[in-house]
Amino acid sequence: MREYSSLTKYVLFNRMSYRVLILAISFLSAILGILSPYFQKGFIDFLIYEHSYLPSFLSFSSPLPYLFLAVFFLVMSQLLNQLTNYLGVKEALFMQKKIGEKIYDKMLSLKLDTMTRRPLGEIVSLYATDVSGATVYLDQTLPSGSSTFFPLLITPFVLVTFFDTPILFTILVIIAITTLNTFLAFRQSKFFYMFKTLAAERLGFVNEWVQNIRTLRILGWVEIIEQKIINKREVETRNRVKMVTNGQVMNSISTSFTFIVNIVTLSLLVMYYKRDLSPGEIFALLWILGVFLTRPFRQMPWFFTFAFDAATSIARIETFLSAKNKLESKEPEIITWDSKTIIEVEKLKLSIQDQQILNIESLKIARGQHAMIVGEVGSGKSLLLLSLLGETNCEWSRYAINKKYISEKVSNFRNVYSYVPQEGLIVSTTLRDNIFLQYDSPKNLDDKVTQAILHAQFKKDMAVLENGLETEFGERGVNLSGGQKQRINIARAAFDDRDIIVLDDSFSALDSETEHLIFNHLVNGAWKNKTVIMTTHRLNLLVSADVIHFMQNGQIKISGSYSDLITKDADFRLFCNQLAENTSPDFIEKDNGDGV
Ligand SMILES: Nc1ncnc2c1ncn2[C@@H]1O[C@H](COP(=O)(O)OP(=O)(O)OP(=O)(O)O)[C@@H](O)[C@H]1O
Ligand SMILES: [Mg+2]
Repeated sequence: MREYSSLTKYVLFNRMSYRVLILAISFLSAILGILSPYFQKGFIDFLIYEHSYLPSFLSFSSPLPYLFLAVFFLVMSQLLNQLTNYLGVKEALFMQKKIGEKIYDKMLSLKLDTMTRRPLGEIVSLYATDVSGATVYLDQTLPSGSSTFFPLLITPFVLVTFFDTPILFTILVIIAITTLNTFLAFRQSKFFYMFKTLAAERLGFVNEWVQNIRTLRILGWVEIIEQKIINKREVETRNRVKMVTNGQVMNSISTSFTFIVNIVTLSLLVMYYKRDLSPGEIFALLWILGVFLTRPFRQMPWFFTFAFDAATSIARIETFLSAKNKLESKEPEIITWDSKTIIEVEKLKLSIQDQQILNIESLKIARGQHAMIVGEVGSGKSLLLLSLLGETNCEWSRYAINKKYISEKVSNFRNVYSYVPQEGLIVSTTLRDNIFLQYDSPKNLDDKVTQAILHAQFKKDMAVLENGLETEFGERGVNLSGGQKQRINIARAAFDDRDIIVLDDSFSALDSETEHLIFNHLVNGAWKNKTVIMTTHRLNLLVSADVIHFMQNGQIKISGSYSDLITKDADFRLFCNQLAENTSPDFIEKDNGDGV
């Protein structure tokens, strides 16, 4: 949106030549439309007086040419009117794509902690209603606006020129009608706005409710939440009743306009101005006021309603697009390094709502190193990983990645990492697609997929899956257990085969035996020489770390091997004791053999 100061201008003035073309076609449609009654007048007068009263260059010896021209101009006007609608819809679709892309880009550019307080429903409704709402200017307002206002602009001149109607009266009538319509439409658009806001709120709410419905039932929250949804529905229904009533009033007023205007104009001309009207003139006047102006009158309130409605959609999109990250997004420095270091971070800081969450003095990860980040819940482990992945508003004095491992451009620095998120990610598609992270993924790499599944110890679960790799998962993996989700995420990382593997508490939902197998065969097996950065609350895993970074209140308090930290740091000892207390006795027994 660099070249436009507002989204409204962007929507309206993009591809200006097309927009002008639409206006020009619509104007031509109005001109041709008003020419029809001119020849209708000629036709009727010719039928009655055998003379058309039209200028001599338009006089014919039979009534048929007049009829032909009247019909011809009418049809052409209608065709051009349809053409404006068609072009308007095409332009709207084009702009919807553009605006959709803008929202999408913006969403990706906003950091995790910028997005924290944004309800999901708001963003879904931006896509669901506001993108198409914003382009109403093009598929409704522009074509219907021009086919409303061009006839209204032309009609007074035509009436004055050809029928001698008083100019002031004609203009006053049109101003009065426009004012009344604007008022009604403004009211209507307020109802529309409420309608959309309430629907967006309900969407967000229902979304949360449906996703958690089972747990909510167990916790006994269903009725309370249902009541809240019913209350929201009631507010929505009341608003909708007002909206429909106002809409009907608008429709009935605009449909009776033509009748009233017909009677008033004819009476005024005959009784007040004592004009002698020929039958042709009466016929043509009735046609202009009763037929030609019907559509503009009927469309006018809706024109305003849609225009106001588009304005509110645009305002909502603009609010979203104007959201800003607290900090300018920085990319890590990619350096050519002979050092064995793969990433190096200095003075990495993150504050969320004036609270300092991370304050990392320095963190170095060597190539092939298995580093574990540990610390109490909420000490900042996940946010540290997400900061390395460029997803937070953190700042740093240095964040360098070794160029050897970045084959693509800097902006793709995330590609150096395979990331297994703490809560796991499952998309509603097949198992194969979930491991590939691609829709309709090819089958030619099934051996590699199967190998990844083996590494992640998911093979035994495959036996109960109906369709093997083709098994479809529900939204966010509703039909999978927590441990299954975690292992599919681990399989994805195994398949991905990137240089740095980031595991955020990825074994938390696994039983100790499965965890052991994955650790021995994958982490210390296939990934033996890969760089692994992981967070964990599992005491038994700590011994195998090359280095442990112990976090406290967003800081790395101390780094070193397990035996180092145990001897040097009392807080770490305390932390390990707590982990041991939380571990089940049979598990500790089993792990004793491993020297923990
Ligand atoms: N998106 C967010 N917006 C605001 N604050 C957040 C956000 N995510 C986490 N926090 C806060 O930042 C702090 C660190 O959170 P983080 O998730 O990094 O902890 P953690 O060490 O990974 O904990 P756990 O061991 O429970 O996974 C917490 O106090 C948390 O409340
Ligand atoms: Mg965490």
